[in-house]
Amino acid sequence: MDLALVENALLGLFASVTLAIVVSKLRGKRLKLPPGPPPVPIFGNWLQVGDDLNHRNLAALAKKFGDILLLRMGQRNLVVVSSPDLAREVLHTQGVEFGSRTRNVVFDIFTGKGQDMVFTVYGEHWRKMRRIMTVPFFTNKVVQQYRHGWEEEAARVVDDVRNNPRAATEGIVLRRRLQLMMYNNMYRIMFDRRFESEDDPLFVKLKTLNGERSRLAQSFEYNYGDFIPILRPFLKGYLKICKEVKERRLSLFKNHFVEERKKMAGTKPVDSVGLKCAIDHILDAEKKGEINEDNVLYIIENINVAAIETTLWSIEWGIAELVNHPEVQQKLRAELDSVLGPGAPVTEPDTHRLPYLQAVVKETLRLRMAIPLLVPHMNLHDANLRGFDIPAESKILVNAWWLANDPANWRAPDRFRPDRFLQEDANVEANGNDFRFIPFGVGRRSCPGIILALPILAITIGRLVQNFELLPPAGKDKLDTAEKGGQFSLHILNHYTVVAKPRPF
Ligand code: HEM
Repeated sequence: MDLALVENALLGLFASVTLAIVVSKLRGKRLKLPPGPPPVPIFGNWLQVGDDLNHRNLAALAKKFGDILLLRMGQRNLVVVSSPDLAREVLHTQGVEFGSRTRNVVFDIFTGKGQDMVFTVYGEHWRKMRRIMTVPFFTNKVVQQYRHGWEEEAARVVDDVRNNPRAATEGIVLRRRLQLMMYNNMYRIMFDRRFESEDDPLFVKLKTLNGERSRLAQSFEYNYGDFIPILRPFLKGYLKICKEVKERRLSLFKNHFVEERKKMAGTKPVDSVGLKCAIDHILDAEKKGEINEDNVLYIIENINVAAIETTLWSIEWGIAELVNHPEVQQKLRAELDSVLGPGAPVTEPDTHRLPYLQAVVKETLRLRMAIPLLVPHMNLHDANLRGFDIPAESKILVNAWWLANDPANWRAPDRFRPDRFLQEDANVEANGNDFRFIPFGVGRRSCPGIILALPILAITIGRLVQNFELLPPAGKDKLDTAEKGGQFSLHILNHYTVVAKPRPF
């Protein structure tokens, strides 16, 4: 290791301790900070609470310190909010004040310092990007343009599973096929493109690079450089890998998708049904000078990150819960059979007259929330919450999972019981009309993809339950639903094998 680097780091560390003590003495007098464990210099609460600040650990801390609490992670302030009222304050009432996103060295690489939309600070650039992305992605017109495509992709999954003799005997890892389906659902919208099989080399490359990006961005490995800026020089190697992955990924988007589409634009500017796809709209905005070429690539990067795995995890959780709750699965099948008739494949318009299917989707999103702490928010300027001072640039986590699983607010919240959404919580929707249930967030930074995610979830889960009896593999009576993650995303620990017995039609 470079000795000069170590010497500088130690000197810096000493200076930071002194500064931190002085600042905390000065500040302690003036600021009324939210409660939390007492911090120590330099590390704050980091060594006490550890790296894994997932939804369950934060719920446990909230029980101790209250609905609003402050953690010092090295030099960073982290405020955790754990009640529906406080969530309303952060996301709605003071939506502008808390409408920014935190940044760190790794996210700066993957987003070109906030040239994207999902991770950029609240302001002019975010507003423009959100406006430009709305027409090609987030309207009912898009749903109507692409819903036939989603229905077709789900039908292909059903066909492939029916034609796989292993599915009905030892079982299959359904996720792999569903992942291809989700890429196709989104790449049809973006580029009017689909991948034929799980072995398609371009699909494999995309999947690998997207996986690498998520792993690198969500790792705890770089926390020390993020929390204690003076240690940042030691992150050099890590950041180099991030840069390489980012370059390879953006080149792939550019060379294999954007350039292809540009070439086609001269000859065939519309998709197979005579309409523009998303990239055509985005390239129009580039031509008009509203955004630049990099922004185009970051929009594609954002959709790859925000849309595909989130929806896939939710489908994976939903199927696992239906396997583990055969009575719910049976009731759903009965609804599909009686409303549509046995064998009549569920379509997007059908989903609006299938209340139990809707309830199954909501219950999955409640119990197994894919982004349990939302995407972290941030206040650009000093702010106030419930009488507490919130220093500028604090990271604000809303524990949406806890809001939806707090026994004080829900009857037997740890049970998978879709009926709650037809009975005591019949008026609760996934769009945030009730602050106890906000799987997509609420307000300015809420998920615009909800309009696509809900029909895709309902069509996919509906078709699978219509066509198959879904069971655990021989020798098991339940699937393992142990969780992984939670700080960024919540997914199933083990991608399960499921037996899919075709129903005779
Ligand atoms: C089940 C699937 C999904 C879940 C659970 C989900 C959840 C979320 C959550 C919790 C947020 C952050 C809200 C906040 O910070 O307050 C978010 C943001 C976002 N989501 Fe989704 N999402 C899903 C699917 C999608 C899809 C399909 C798309 C796009 C096609 C999408 C695009 C976005 C974008 C662009 C943002 C950033 C919004 C902003 O910062 O202004 N999401 N999503």
